[in-house]
Amino acid sequence: MSPSSTLDPETAAVSAPSLGVAPLERIGNTPLIRLDALTQHLSGIQILGKAEWLNPGGSVKDRAASNIVAAAQRTGQLGAGKILTDATSGNTGIAYAMLGAAHGFRVQLCMPSNVSIERKRILAAYGAEVIWTDPADGSDGAIRKVRELVAAEPDKYFYADQYGNDNNWLAHYNGTANEIWRQTEGAVTHFVAALGTSGTFMGTTRRLRELSANQPRPVQCISMQPDSPFNGLEGLKHMATAIVPPIYDPHLADRNIDMATERAYAMAKWLGHNQGMLIGVSAAAAVCAALEVAEDEAAAGREAVVVTILCDAADKYLSERFWTEPGDGDDALARKLGSRRA
Ligand SMILES: Cc1ncc(COP(=O)(O)O)c(C=O)c1O
Repeated sequence: MSPSSTLDPETAAVSAPSLGVAPLERIGNTPLIRLDALTQHLSGIQILGKAEWLNPGGSVKDRAASNIVAAAQRTGQLGAGKILTDATSGNTGIAYAMLGAAHGFRVQLCMPSNVSIERKRILAAYGAEVIWTDPADGSDGAIRKVRELVAAEPDKYFYADQYGNDNNWLAHYNGTANEIWRQTEGAVTHFVAALGTSGTFMGTTRRLRELSANQPRPVQCISMQPDSPFNGLEGLKHMATAIVPPIYDPHLADRNIDMATERAYAMAKWLGHNQGMLIGVSAAAAVCAALEVAEDEAAAGREAVVVTILCDAADKYLSERFWTEPGDGDDALARKLGSRRA
């Protein structure tokens, strides 16, 4: 249309095409980042990480939370005036808080009070309400508290129940897995993911198994969890001692890797210093596990495309001391992977 054409400004405002994307449309379809610097010592091996911090709430949990909320809105469970509540150690709470702010429903979370100051500030900025639980009880204390609240006033709440809600793992079955398959053009050989609620691992694994069932090499799926109940891998569960999430099926994984917190800290620092990538602690733990799988495949003389999930970025963990203090695993990792600095 020429600039001189007569255009009624009011009609133009109504009929103009909507440009850009709505914030919540940015959930999912995250890029797959090549981590070539990790595999230079391994021939025929690639490690790739899904950059989940690019979701609008900053983590992989936007996927599960948005699917849970969408289903609850569809079925009327999250009708007018209902408050969404759940137990969370951080990222799911941030995702619910973002969704509540965007859709206009109240969010009340149960959360251990020792979550990082960054997380507390993000939740406050989204206007979420939080009931703090004893840090000594970990995420299980938060689960017990939310169950108490809902039992006392069932009509007041929509209990999102991320640990027991099938819409958690279905978000990954319908989203994450298909994205990985498409982005690797079906070349993925191994999938590695950390266990929190286990939704990411359960959903992605189930779908990748189906997609690769007729391939010469069906995708091997490897879960990773902390090696002890007392660990610094925020968001993850030590299944042997935790309240086991109802959606978790311990028989699904081809293999499980137990991860030491020190290894994850060393990897987070190495990636920051040598790749310019600041990822969260559980993401760094996932990279360590992916590297372990990659090294095993290389030792067996097989080629491999190992895909893992980089759950979030480092920004919510920058107040932790390990970034600036030497750690047990730092030297060993630098010897293995080298250092870009003189
Ligand atoms: C930082 C972080 N990493 C990993 C996970 C695990 O994801 P999932 O709950 O899908 O097992 C979570 C879950 O809250 C998390 O917050």
